[in-house]
Amino acid sequence: GTTRHYHFEIQLHNVTRLCHSKRMLTVNGKFPGPRIIAREGDRVVIKVVNHVSNNVSVHWHGIRQLLSGWADGPAYVTQCPIQSGQSYVYNFTIVGQRGTLFWHAHISWLRATLYGPFIILPKKNTSYPFAKPFKEVPMIFGEWWNADTEAVINQALQTGAAPNISDAYIINGFPGPLYNCSANQTFKLKVKPGKTYLLRIINAALNDDLFFRIANHTFTVVEADAVYVKPFETDLLLITPGQTTNVLLKTKPNPFNTTFLMAARPYFTGQGTIDNSTASNSLPFRQSTELLFAANFSNKFRSLATAQFPANVPQSIDKHFFFTVGLGSSPCLKNQTCQGPDGTKFAASVNNVSFTLPTTSLLQAHFFGQSNGVYTTDFPSFPITPFNYTGTPPKNTTVANGTKDTSILGAESHPLHLHGYNFFIVGQGFGNFDPQKDPPNYNLVDPVERNTIGVPSGGWVAIRFRADNPGVWFMHCHFEVHLSWGLKMAWVVLDGNLPNQQLPPPPSDLPKC
Ligand code: C2O
Repeated sequence: GTTRHYHFEIQLHNVTRLCHSKRMLTVNGKFPGPRIIAREGDRVVIKVVNHVSNNVSVHWHGIRQLLSGWADGPAYVTQCPIQSGQSYVYNFTIVGQRGTLFWHAHISWLRATLYGPFIILPKKNTSYPFAKPFKEVPMIFGEWWNADTEAVINQALQTGAAPNISDAYIINGFPGPLYNCSANQTFKLKVKPGKTYLLRIINAALNDDLFFRIANHTFTVVEADAVYVKPFETDLLLITPGQTTNVLLKTKPNPFNTTFLMAARPYFTGQGTIDNSTASNSLPFRQSTELLFAANFSNKFRSLATAQFPANVPQSIDKHFFFTVGLGSSPCLKNQTCQGPDGTKFAASVNNVSFTLPTTSLLQAHFFGQSNGVYTTDFPSFPITPFNYTGTPPKNTTVANGTKDTSILGAESHPLHLHGYNFFIVGQGFGNFDPQKDPPNYNLVDPVERNTIGVPSGGWVAIRFRADNPGVWFMHCHFEVHLSWGLKMAWVVLDGNLPNQQLPPPPSDLPKC
């Protein structure tokens, strides 16, 4: 492959949306940020220069980062942030991936404005497993806040309340035509009739799963998270934050020059899904039409593998983990006025632990054998409090500061994202996972491989991956608000014995804390 060089200057820029101007963080003054385009096998070198007063870091979401964990990007996980006036060169090779991914800032809520597509074309002289599209169009979904997003989250974290929701959903940076004052400032796609377009769809929104459709048209889904899938037809897409998908759009003959609306709208799983009237039945959660659509839809994604040539799913398992992810609340400190439920503040956890970021990077601490006082390895591989989805939702809704209490305020689906890996989704269901009955039904033939999966509201997913990439890898809910509340954890993957299984030392410009 070749080497591709990019320059990301993090700088303030005036942007106007919904007739509201604000000075916000951008890459190179662009919003959304620049596209990265590379081919499978290429080396990508991006120099990020920080011209603003905030600490920044950038993550190449979905890139496997084989033996290049120093370039992954989450602040305080694989690196200290790039401080004002400093720079860092991210340097990695794209191995075994082609399709659509994206990049985004990975510190606080800066990804609200710092994001852009990461497009990986197949190797030279290699074609798609589908007919060459007439044109390719990146479509990146996001959210727009009139207010400064750092102020929004800081205020929420200080008061323990839920943050304000955004003012608009945006496609390629623009709100829809229904906002009076900015009706002509929307994203429009000019197409020719009867042609096939490849839409590279990215959900870079902070806090919402999104439905997407185009009037009178259907999509053929051909790829997810930079892995080809068995093509399937749908007129409605559902995409969680952190997911990317490529779809083919065949435009209709259009003798009357009609304009077709495209629309994205949120999938609210959090509200009203606990159904007390059926709490005594088997499921306390209302299986709404949307919930069922979501489960069905995510089940349609299958790898290109066949029974004769099955996917490379790990067949035997060395280590089992059982995680419950959920929302809860934690007590307030003295003298704090908290605006969460019952005078508490909102929190979220994995196995009852609400993760707090350290003040140095986990990977550095691990690599130099200085993890003492930075992190402990006693993370429970099983929920501390046994959780039951088939009884009445627990009354106990407290997550004690980073510790031991299961809680659930509302059942909500969580887009769980893992850095440094794709995982196979071998099973999913509603209600309790049954360790006897469920595993025999796993799909070990053609499960889809993804880096982000929506864990259904009041349900479970089973994932498998081979821990073949040494480093420290973040796993978290890709709803930014849940990430802020602590729904995150890290995997420490040790070196293997062979030289090509060992993480090299960090580059010399790795930022210091
Ligand atoms: Cu796109 Cu840690 O995430």
